[in-house]
Amino acid sequence: MKLLVRDLAQLATPAGRDAPLRGAALGEVDVLEDAFVLCAGDAIEAVGRMRDLPLLDSDVVEVDGRGLCAIPGLVDCHTHAAFGGDRVDEFSLRAGGASYEELHARGGGILSTVRATRAAGERGLLEAVERHRDWMRGHGTTTFESKSGYGLDRETELASLRAVKSAGGVPTWLGAHAVPPEFEGDADAYLDFALNEVLPEAAQLAEAADVFLERGAFDAEQARRYLEACRDAGLALRLHGDQFTESGAIPLAVELGARSVDHLEATGDAGVRTLAASDVVGVLLPASALFLGRPMPPGRALVDAGAAIALATDFNPGSAFCESLPLCCSLAATQLKLSPAESLAACTVNAAHVLGRGERLGRLAPGYRADIVLLDAPDWRYLAYHLGGELVARIVAAGELR
Ligand code: NIG
Ligand code: FE
Repeated sequence: MKLLVRDLAQLATPAGRDAPLRGAALGEVDVLEDAFVLCAGDAIEAVGRMRDLPLLDSDVVEVDGRGLCAIPGLVDCHTHAAFGGDRVDEFSLRAGGASYEELHARGGGILSTVRATRAAGERGLLEAVERHRDWMRGHGTTTFESKSGYGLDRETELASLRAVKSAGGVPTWLGAHAVPPEFEGDADAYLDFALNEVLPEAAQLAEAADVFLERGAFDAEQARRYLEACRDAGLALRLHGDQFTESGAIPLAVELGARSVDHLEATGDAGVRTLAASDVVGVLLPASALFLGRPMPPGRALVDAGAAIALATDFNPGSAFCESLPLCCSLAATQLKLSPAESLAACTVNAAHVLGRGERLGRLAPGYRADIVLLDAPDWRYLAYHLGGELVARIVAAGELR
């Protein structure tokens, strides 16, 4: 079965075949005017200009692309979609001046979502992840990662990972997100429990492990212990680091060969240089900085220093209740000073690389999975330009029109 999207105003895709892209290559986009994409099954067979469209037999479904631009399906490599309840009360308090860190220290914040998530049950959690996935899809996300981290007990952590997997997401075990109340602030005792009782099964469900390395959460030594055990169990490694303070996340990520270190709002010049000289991807989450009224991560400095970066939403109920990667591209342009081309690569091929899928996802080119976003726009750069706009006309996911 073939699907032809024809007569597109433009088709735009990160150039080349490499992943991750960095330096000048990050900003190189191939743009075709008056273009087509031909999909065969779940893969892209060909892209090109309409005048070069080959003769096709009759078994082809055609989609009219007039007035639309095609870009690769977006890849959200950092979300926390497995949670119950919401934090709208806390959001309102924050609007009145309370700080995120204060609320966390008072047992609100992440721990209030832990209570709601434990109460949701396996079915409730699956429904929540599916609802959040559908929101993401509405904004062009065809691949999403989601962390656990709001269960922090064996049953709810494993249920969260199963929910992400059955909703079609890429599961990451965020077993070290916060210390749950039953451990009364004893982070080491909690880690003993998590590594002994949860990791063996979590490692069968998840692809990666993540830790919140921060004042008030886990310190560098605890993060190292957690990550080394997870690596030994076969998981790829990620870190939440430098969100509020520089607490050693970048050196640890580099030393352990992590896939990524995410947030980086507090990263200074030395951190920028260390990250740029490594293979670790810096995942930038500008919606989270915006939502918390925090400084933006040094996106331009990272790219100029030669770091590989990705862009993600950080979708979660507390620090970024935002599922829109196009909005993150707008923030990347206006706040981080990244070009639309750099943003496109950051939330397609580079994000796919963070998820270990850089060979198959994130480009409109033969052999890649047929994940396509059709933008309701005359120019693909509306992706970043149309701030909060209704951008997504249709998506194609694994060759299927949605
Ligand atoms: O990435 N920083 C730690 N974790 C999440 C927020 C979790 C929450 O507030 O519920 C983040 O920002
Ligand atoms: Fe996060």
